[in-house]
Amino acid sequence: MAKVKFGLIGAGQIAYSAADQINKHDDAEVVAATDLSAPRLAKLCEDKGIPNAHSTAEALLADSSVDAVYVAVPNKFHAPLAIQALEAGKHVILEKPFAMNTAEAEAVIAAAEKAGKVFTVGMNQRFVENHQKIKALVEAGKLGEIYHAKAFWYRRSGIPTLGTWFGNKALAGGGCLNDIGVHYLDLCLYALDAFDPVSVSGTTYTKFGNRGLGGGKWGISDKTESVFDVEDFATALIRFKSGLTVCLDATWACHMEDANRQGVLLYGTEAGADVATGKLFEQDPIREGYSIIDDVSVGIKYPAHCRFANFIEAILGREELCVKPEQALAVQKILDAVQESSRTGKEVIL
Ligand SMILES: NC(=O)c1ccc[n+]([C@@H]2O[C@H](COP(=O)([O-])OP(=O)(O)OC[C@H]3O[C@@H](n4cnc5c(N)ncnc54)[C@H](O)[C@@H]3O)[C@@H](O)[C@H]2O)c1
Repeated sequence: MAKVKFGLIGAGQIAYSAADQINKHDDAEVVAATDLSAPRLAKLCEDKGIPNAHSTAEALLADSSVDAVYVAVPNKFHAPLAIQALEAGKHVILEKPFAMNTAEAEAVIAAAEKAGKVFTVGMNQRFVENHQKIKALVEAGKLGEIYHAKAFWYRRSGIPTLGTWFGNKALAGGGCLNDIGVHYLDLCLYALDAFDPVSVSGTTYTKFGNRGLGGGKWGISDKTESVFDVEDFATALIRFKSGLTVCLDATWACHMEDANRQGVLLYGTEAGADVATGKLFEQDPIREGYSIIDDVSVGIKYPAHCRFANFIEAILGREELCVKPEQALAVQKILDAVQESSRTGKEVIL
């Protein structure tokens, strides 16, 4: 069988693991890449053995050997490049966050429908083994009615390299919410299969990055003189049609005991779980005690544990796409609503 041939748009930090994951698949390979930075492009192509380095995205999209495109660039360029790639007849896997706003995300979905190509947002957290296990238990009804969930990702000092595009609103759209909040929000909604939010109340804060504090080491883009004008802490309460509530906390920088803490806690009538650690919490029916089970044994849907494997299998018609565009759109709507609620001080009705 002919392999699915990939072109990478963006030769930044995340492109390195992406190239490895794509090349690991028996039926796929990376054949081309592009980046605005010639040195970064040359280094990625050399390190990962990518044969065709294109100097522009247009040239990569005109390359008829490319079947599918991975878009991993600053958020401002997500939707425009995804649309360009779809219009050029390529399948597209786009990095998170989906887009700068809901209108852009809707335009990408319309372009994918028109092109008839496979389109997904590469939410890698969905494919982690523990996450898949708890998802399977929820689907089997093990937790009963889940009435509340808490999704959080706290970092003590984890702002991507200060001075790069990540902290600039014009290029990133938002800060920790778009960068890490989106991961655990998506994971939580996926675990619960709850993509029908009805209202969002949220507040964002900028307390560290604007003072040159809280920096981490992620990202290999050049530093610029741009201001840090995105949030580095966000909190939200999201209500759903069924009565379910989800609390979301995301922070790139804060004072706390440990350097990093993340989880998705599910509160059900029959059991609870932490999606992140794969632990199940329930009354032990035999010993009449309380059990914390950290090695749940259950079959999972995507055993390859890889967003690219799922995308490739979907292109080849052998697997259902895990991250459906309309689910990613629901997540984008919540991100927008958190920002709007913070701006207006009011709950946003969706
Ligand atoms: N899924 C994850 O866990 C995960 C982790 C990190 C980053 N990301 C996402 O991946 C994307 C890239 O992040 P990164 O960490 O690799 O960033 P990075 O700063 O390391 O690299 C970004 C690269 O994009 C290039 N670029 C900028 N504009 C471009 C354009 N118009 N066309 C082509 N290239 C362009 C830059 O020159 C740079 O090399 C972001 O959307 C980010 O949110 C996802």
